[in-house]
Amino acid sequence: MDLVKLHDKQFAPYITADVIHQNVSRIAEGLTADVKKSFPLFVVVLNGSFIFASDLVKLLKFPCEISFVKLASYHGTSSTGNVSKLIGLTENIENRTVIIVEDIVDTGNTLEKLHALLCEKKAKEIKIVTLLFKPKAYKKDIKLDYVGIQIPNDFVVGYGLDYDGLGRNLKDIYILRP
Ligand code: IMP
Repeated sequence: MDLVKLHDKQFAPYITADVIHQNVSRIAEGLTADVKKSFPLFVVVLNGSFIFASDLVKLLKFPCEISFVKLASYHGTSSTGNVSKLIGLTENIENRTVIIVEDIVDTGNTLEKLHALLCEKKAKEIKIVTLLFKPKAYKKDIKLDYVGIQIPNDFVVGYGLDYDGLGRNLKDIYILRP
């Protein structure tokens, strides 16, 4: 595989599509064993997770629903500061098994906000799936139930992940060259 140039930066091949798919299959098997009888709702966090989620749900042979959400932040009152709002969730999740699908968990800030918003809506249980995880950057206590591949604290693109809008359509994952 060749280097890829996106805007002003170069990225080197890092994780092949084959290795990605082995890990997606492993996650799908884990989910099937754990939640196949609970009619779960998959909450897919846009934009980055769209390719991962699409490959993952095709491997699930049990009934489930899929919803796509975005987290928007806006300025609340001066006492509340920056507030996060969940856009796109139309399903009632009260008393349901909800599975958050993330492309990558870095510091965990995004995940923590989403988790809190879903807890407020009284889900029965919330499980977390992420394709990529940067353990050295993670600052939160929320347990990640299904992790695809752990990576160092470097910037990666491809398979849904972007650098300033570019690179999402690459089928492999690439890493930023120093
Ligand atoms: P967190 O809130 O710090 O965990 O970051 C989560 C979000 O940051 C992800 O959903 C991505 O959109 C973005 N992000 C974090 N690391 C990377 C990366 O290496 N490449 C592309 N996007 C990333």
